[in-house]
Amino acid sequence: MANIVRRPRRLRSTAALRDLVSEVQISNNDLIAPLFIKEALDEPVPISSLPGIYQHSVTSAIEEARRLNDLGVKGFMLFGVPSQKDPLGTQGYDDNGITQLSIGAFKEAFGDQAVVMADLCLDEFTDHGHCGVLDQRGCVDNDKTLELYGEMALAQARSGVDFVAPSGMMDGQVAFIRQTLDQAGFVGVGILAYSAKYASAFYGPFRDAVDVTIANGGDRKGYQQDFRNRREAILEIELDISEGADMVMVKPASSYLDIISTIRPMVNLPIAAYQVSGEYAMVKAADAAGYIDGTAVALEQLHAIKRAGADFILTYFSHELAEILR
Ligand code: PBG
Repeated sequence: MANIVRRPRRLRSTAALRDLVSEVQISNNDLIAPLFIKEALDEPVPISSLPGIYQHSVTSAIEEARRLNDLGVKGFMLFGVPSQKDPLGTQGYDDNGITQLSIGAFKEAFGDQAVVMADLCLDEFTDHGHCGVLDQRGCVDNDKTLELYGEMALAQARSGVDFVAPSGMMDGQVAFIRQTLDQAGFVGVGILAYSAKYASAFYGPFRDAVDVTIANGGDRKGYQQDFRNRREAILEIELDISEGADMVMVKPASSYLDIISTIRPMVNLPIAAYQVSGEYAMVKAADAAGYIDGTAVALEQLHAIKRAGADFILTYFSHELAEILR
């Protein structure tokens, strides 16, 4: 007999014991389903790079959300895809723009049964595909963009949004939006700030989902974070909290677990993580090829994201895991 006093395997010996001592659980309370809603669509259109995910009509988005909400998913992040795009992204802050109409329809359908959030960014609405207004040199003009984000926040608030989710990574965006909302009397509308958002190749499939191509082969490295940096994420989180964010987000999730676990002890607000389109697409592709069990991998990743310190997760897996996690 080996003389071993500490035997950690004892606590792993049965499923009941493992459940008893498990440190993190995932439930549908932890999930937010991102939904793409395209203007003037009659039937949902599958997105080829995101198997199982659709560009919805307002009606089909509500049907999908209803199914998920009945299973216990409480949060939805709406992305509007307009028919018309222009340099200033005007459909993003038109009261009849697709995001605003969707928010109104969701609030009417769900009332307080669901938390309705909307992406607040211009890239879905601009013809050049950047997240803001361009200056003469073709760079995104920070402060002019803030003015338009303010208009978007007001339009979304008038439609009844619960939380706006600024994702453009402009300096001062949270403070500007908070101030704009408060001055118009929308003190109850919250801000989920995409605070530590990296310039990531994992967003590839998302751009199919929202019909976005960045003009002239451009990228977002002039405003989204450099993936070589960690301290910069801490600064962005601190700034957004001081500017009035109600919740902060780290994005993407799985390759940035170090960022989540670094900020966890520093942040007393809820932390969201966004498992983005490319993370989902990779699991689906490997599953389809028979290389991995996609459902098992997805569950493992969601637990890892929560174990790192996230309170809730935006994930395209919501639509298939809600049934399992019920
Ligand atoms: C910006 C936005 C993006 C995503 C969410 N909000 C794209 C980008 O920054 O280029 C990506 C989400 C995903 O990849 O799933 N409106």
